[in-house]
Amino acid sequence: MTNVLRRYESVKIATEYFKFRPKYSSDVLKAVMKYYKPDWNRSSRHDLMVEVGCGSGQATNHFAPYFKQILASDVSRQQIELAKRQNQFPNVSYEIGSAENLSLVDAGSVDLVLAMECAHWFDLPRFFDETARVLKPDGCLAIGGYWFPKLVPLMDGKDDLKFKVSDLLEHFLVHGKRHDMIRYAQVKTQFPNVYEAIPWNKKEKQNVQVAYGDWNLATAKGFMRSMDSYQLHMQHIFDLCQNQFPPHTPLDLDSAEVFSKRVKELLEVPQAIDDNVKFRALFDVFLLLAKVG
Ligand SMILES: C[S@@+](CC[C@H](N)C(=O)[O-])C[C@H]1O[C@@H](n2cnc3c(N)ncnc32)[C@H](O)[C@@H]1O
Repeated sequence: MTNVLRRYESVKIATEYFKFRPKYSSDVLKAVMKYYKPDWNRSSRHDLMVEVGCGSGQATNHFAPYFKQILASDVSRQQIELAKRQNQFPNVSYEIGSAENLSLVDAGSVDLVLAMECAHWFDLPRFFDETARVLKPDGCLAIGGYWFPKLVPLMDGKDDLKFKVSDLLEHFLVHGKRHDMIRYAQVKTQFPNVYEAIPWNKKEKQNVQVAYGDWNLATAKGFMRSMDSYQLHMQHIFDLCQNQFPPHTPLDLDSAEVFSKRVKELLEVPQAIDDNVKFRALFDVFLLLAKVG
């Protein structure tokens, strides 16, 4: 737990997170709700959703109109403060709390437990025990996540470079994640261990593509900086450089800046400003869906 808190507690990462992480889409909402109730439609309103590891409410906002009440929690105080600030829904409450302890939630009261892009941090047996306790007999668990987006350059004749640009993004982000590769490999491979560990027979996997047409290099850099591993990597470099004289912040060692420079070289626009190098960003959101009964 201390490990997680250290990574997500900083104001900086919570702010970058809020601004630059994907906010999912109504297709993700629909896939989850249709799994829970195949006859679901937008006039349906269920009783209670519990979301764990909610961050600053990226997924929560899509679900809010379709539940009478949502209890959303996260172990990070900074994430919860941002979530409360952005919240527009009176039926949603955000509290600090862990996925492994839902003691404030009554047994058998919950329609849906949602956990997006966070189950790789959980103590899974304790989380599943708590989920089984709080879900209604026909209740549903939805665990999801995504790996890095594919970036398609929105420039004439450059479409074919999408694989190279995406590889560059992955190269620099994986480099930042090297301290914790086993955990991140789980996300890249769509949580096989989490799926296996789901203790109920009724379970299935789905994928939903989420596309954003308004990304540019500044957005991509912001996304990189929202990664806990990027922040750890940069802190490490910063610490090393402070021992030199004179101390300096090394832009040429900042992986987000180097990524930006390399992409511009690849697209043959080395002098372009980041905002003008535009992309379509495609996220492959995976869902692990399960029912207790
Ligand atoms: C990558 S963020 C995902 C946030 C949001 N759900 C989203 O989809 O963007 C992971 C979040 O999980 C939270 N977290 C990690 N371990 C947790 C735990 N055991 N219980 C509750 N939250 C946890 C972190 O504080 C962090 O905000």
